[in-house]
Amino acid sequence: MTESLTVRDNRTGQEYDVPIADGAIKAADLGKIKASDDSPGLAVYDPGFVNTASCRSSVTYIDGEKGILEYRGYPIEQLAEKSNFLEVAYLLINGSLPTKAEYEAWVHEITYHTFVHENVKSLMQGFRYDAHPMGMLMSSVGALSTFYPDAANIGDAENRHMQIVRMIAKMPTLGAWSFRHAQGKPYVYPDNDLSYTANFLSMLFKMSESKYEADERLVKALDVLLILHADHEQNCSTNAVRSVGSSQVDPYSAVAAGIGALYGPLHGGANEAVLRMLKRIGTKENIPAFIEGVKNGDEKLMGFGHRVYKNYDPRAKIIKKACDDVFEVTGVNPLLEIAQELEKIALEDEYFVKRKLYPNVDFYSGLIYEALQFPPEMFTVLFAIGRTPGWLAQWNELVQDKEQKIARPKQIYTGDRTLDFVPASERWA
Ligand SMILES: CC(C)(COP(=O)(O)OP(=O)(O)OC[C@H]1O[C@@H](n2cnc3c(N)ncnc32)[C@H](O)[C@@H]1OP(=O)(O)O)[C@@H](O)C(=O)NCCC(=O)NCCS
Repeated sequence: MTESLTVRDNRTGQEYDVPIADGAIKAADLGKIKASDDSPGLAVYDPGFVNTASCRSSVTYIDGEKGILEYRGYPIEQLAEKSNFLEVAYLLINGSLPTKAEYEAWVHEITYHTFVHENVKSLMQGFRYDAHPMGMLMSSVGALSTFYPDAANIGDAENRHMQIVRMIAKMPTLGAWSFRHAQGKPYVYPDNDLSYTANFLSMLFKMSESKYEADERLVKALDVLLILHADHEQNCSTNAVRSVGSSQVDPYSAVAAGIGALYGPLHGGANEAVLRMLKRIGTKENIPAFIEGVKNGDEKLMGFGHRVYKNYDPRAKIIKKACDDVFEVTGVNPLLEIAQELEKIALEDEYFVKRKLYPNVDFYSGLIYEALQFPPEMFTVLFAIGRTPGWLAQWNELVQDKEQKIARPKQIYTGDRTLDFVPASERWA
């Protein structure tokens, strides 16, 4: 039996049967409900899409109540522990884990495409000396569409694969150069003998040494962080990629839009706010007064709470563990003690328990990034590099989805109507 919803329109007394499929009704079915034949159909008002599914997707599953995150069905905990970022990228893009031959070909392709055209370098060098690295990353990814005009051919699967490889390969190069730029340091070319993440660290930190090889524990920790950020279903930046991509523009332009969305403090900037908060608290003794301030509504405990997770964010647990490995190499970040104490108190306090406020992915990640010598402006760039396979997997799914249309929401018009225009010469007379 097909499930359905019976809706009675009290304006007309008419009843409608609206089919339910996959726990959802089609907004277009509600559009058939009209007060009169010539009136517009019923619309759904949903700012921020808090209860609107925009697509069917088989990329990422989240159960916020239970604290579950899976990529293509694989739990994030297992991927973080046993896989690596490039294998996870393959999984997200292709939908299944690679065979040995597929994996080797994938790693080879990505490694082969890490270099960018020299004119991309000139373009980046044209930015002001103190340019924010996210602005540089967004512009240079957008610019790649002009270097690869063939990317406009999005209907061709082989072509899409080519652009996906290029973008995943070049993001660390562009991200690292954005970082070096503000420091006035020379841009470092990719070292294709190194792994994806080790090469990224080399492009970030290499100076006069002939080869830069980071401590393996740091490479692993950064790789895990990239895995944790690789996808998160229909978040703000993914929605931006899908929305722009729905116009059938090339993927560089669509991903540049996603980077723009991630640049905003409500999306990619929370870990920086956590660091600022921890520094302001300063010592363990100040924590009780701070918590009181939060409970009185004077401020927020940054890095706590999530729109979707009403349980411990599974990514936060993994990051907390990665902290130990990083601090073994870099020495303990003194802010860790404050973070741990804050967490302990908050998890026992009724205010946080009642509201289901748990640490989210940003609570500990800033501490690791700082220990790795990243300035706060770079935190979001790292997020963007990690999220690239997710954006591209979602884009690839979008362009093959026959149900998808150009994204074009409705509005509820609240302005004036049918005013008579008076020319400026008369209005100002
Ligand atoms: C992430 C966030 C925006 C989710 O917001 P949301 O789903 O709209 O949840 P709400 O703002 O409705 O919060 C529900 C209640 O918890 C409280 N709350 C939510 N997050 C809180 C926080 N970090 N500290 C203190 N109180 C918080 C709200 O004040 C509200 O309390 P009330 O019911 O008494 O009014 C929010 O939890 C937040 O601002 N967290 C801090 C920023 C952060 O870490 N962002 C990164 C997310 S990955």
